Amino acid sequence: MQPIEQRAMSPEIIKKIDEAGVIAVLVIDDVKHAVPVAKALLKGGVNAIELTLRTPAAIEAARAIKSEVPEITLGIGTVLTIGQVKAAAELGADFAVSPGCNPRVIAAAREHDLSFAPGIMTPTDIEIAIEQGCRVLKYFPAESSGGMNHLTNMVAPYQYLGLKFIPLGGLSMANAASYLESPIITAIGGSWIAKRPLIQAENWEAITENAKEVRKLITEIRK
Ligand code: 3PG
Repeated sequence: MQPIEQRAMSPEIIKKIDEAGVIAVLVIDDVKHAVPVAKALLKGGVNAIELTLRTPAAIEAARAIKSEVPEITLGIGTVLTIGQVKAAAELGADFAVSPGCNPRVIAAAREHDLSFAPGIMTPTDIEIAIEQGCRVLKYFPAESSGGMNHLTNMVAPYQYLGLKFIPLGGLSMANAASYLESPIITAIGGSWIAKRPLIQAENWEAITENAKEVRKLITEIRK
């Protein structure tokens, strides 16, 4: 029995995120870095990003990626307000995520036809998200909350609803496999692939190498 139908994310975006398997979290300080970092990720086989709204350059950076690197599945992160939902929708983002679970923000995303995955780390968060029609949830902060062990136990009562999770927060190559091996994980994510200092230093080669490394792991685990 489905208490409330999934309505927070389009089937097309659910599929894109699942196929991507990994979402690179980006903090961009300078608009000129947006297109090169997106291209560096693509070159390494990572085609989904969460561009965080934590810097003044973020919205312009997202616009640049949207128009110049259309192969990227463009997610907007750290979406905390209704105004930010509107901005993400207007620039044509594919989806948006938030660290926490705010029903007003989720409702605004639906009004703007923007696919949305709220952050959860407690059963209460999950119940709020379910009530808002969400089935794809960001598990944040994943590692410090207890990793897959916490998630598996927490999700047991709800799993008949077919929930899928994107763990973020503290992930790296050292622990990525522990998440990717679980069938309830649709994609992992993190900032380690394109760390802020690497972007600031314009070290696109290192970002491509990190992307290749995680892509290889995903291919091995999913084969
Ligand atoms: C996020 O916004 O999802 C987190 O900042 C990602 O966490 P990480 O920096 O530990 O990867």
